Amino acid sequence: MNDRFLRACRKQPVDTVPVWIMRQAGRYLPEYMEVRRKHDFLTVCKTPELAAQVTIQPVARLGVDAAILFSDILIPVEAMGVPLEFHEGRGPILGRGARDRSAIEALRVPDPVRDLGFVLDAVRVLRRELAGRVPLIGFSGLPFTLASYIVEGGKSRDFAALRSLMQDDPGAFAVLMDKLTDTTVAYAGAQISAGAQAIQLFDTWAGILEPEQYRRQVLPHTFRVAQAVRLRRVPVIHFTADCRRLLPVLRELPVDVLSIDQRVPLDEAARLAGPGFVLQGNLDPEVLLRPAGEVADAAKEVLERGRQAGGHIFNLGHGILPRTDPEAARALVEAVHRLGRQG
Ligand code: CP3
Repeated sequence: MNDRFLRACRKQPVDTVPVWIMRQAGRYLPEYMEVRRKHDFLTVCKTPELAAQVTIQPVARLGVDAAILFSDILIPVEAMGVPLEFHEGRGPILGRGARDRSAIEALRVPDPVRDLGFVLDAVRVLRRELAGRVPLIGFSGLPFTLASYIVEGGKSRDFAALRSLMQDDPGAFAVLMDKLTDTTVAYAGAQISAGAQAIQLFDTWAGILEPEQYRRQVLPHTFRVAQAVRLRRVPVIHFTADCRRLLPVLRELPVDVLSIDQRVPLDEAARLAGPGFVLQGNLDPEVLLRPAGEVADAAKEVLERGRQAGGHIFNLGHGILPRTDPEAARALVEAVHRLGRQG
């Protein structure tokens, strides 16, 4: 069993630096596009055998040290009663946006076993099919990022509706965050019961907030999710897409690993986060579009800076770009394993 990834999460010694890639299953892989020609994205998410098949594709092709469940952070939001659609090239669309107290009151907290059984089945199929080859990472969105999609009705450029809800009706925003916290705690817990061996919590858009507002209106909810997952004794990873300003606050979270975006060098992130955290990241996804020699040099620099942290799991700073050559991703994994050898 390759347990490098789990050992690194727990700060145990490893033979070399473990590596996986955010969005490692997806549109840059021809074998994924082959499945998508026959089935739309939500059908793949909701059919355990298909979700398991595409989860394993990058494990087989790239040699990464972990599999991440193929799904989407918005799947439990649909189970809360928000209509969800994906349209090619436009990103997710979620109804008209739940912007007032009555729309927020109408949302329900789903029962993962009853309403999201297909995700739990995918986890069970995967544990059987992976057969210990690599550990399986489960995941969930965190309340703030999920709230942004629910309130805006999709991806937003300025988050105007979300910002005015937080400002003008903090009580209604807190009700929404409480429902999302309950949803996330139950959902992540059910994935662990089904066999997920670590949980990555995505708070992609939290970096748009001033640290003080984040501390007041978001941190308590994220804290509750992280603590509940940690009580289940699996490693917890926190990700946000623009973390520099928030790191002095994020260091208060009960998580094992902080995933760092490409804008903050890992040695600087280690200073801002303080001791105690394993850091994940943070090669710029754009680097994978460059010639092989440049990719290896950039990976080497990330590895060197990562040595300053309490432990390092190699990854990109954000998801892999759809126009990446799979061969570049495979070569990166090999380079990290070669250059990251310990001792
Ligand atoms: O990492 C993995 O390989 C696991 C699968 C995974 C997906 N989405 C698959 C996906 C994970 C962990 C996510 C998380 C996710 N989804 C986040 C947080 C991480 C991040 O990147 O910031 C967010 C914000 C979403 C919401 C979402 N879903 C967006 C913005 C998009 C892109 C829309 C587009 O058209 O580009 C999706 C769709 C999506 N999720 C795809 C995949 C492979 C593309 C679907 C397709 O067309 O096949």
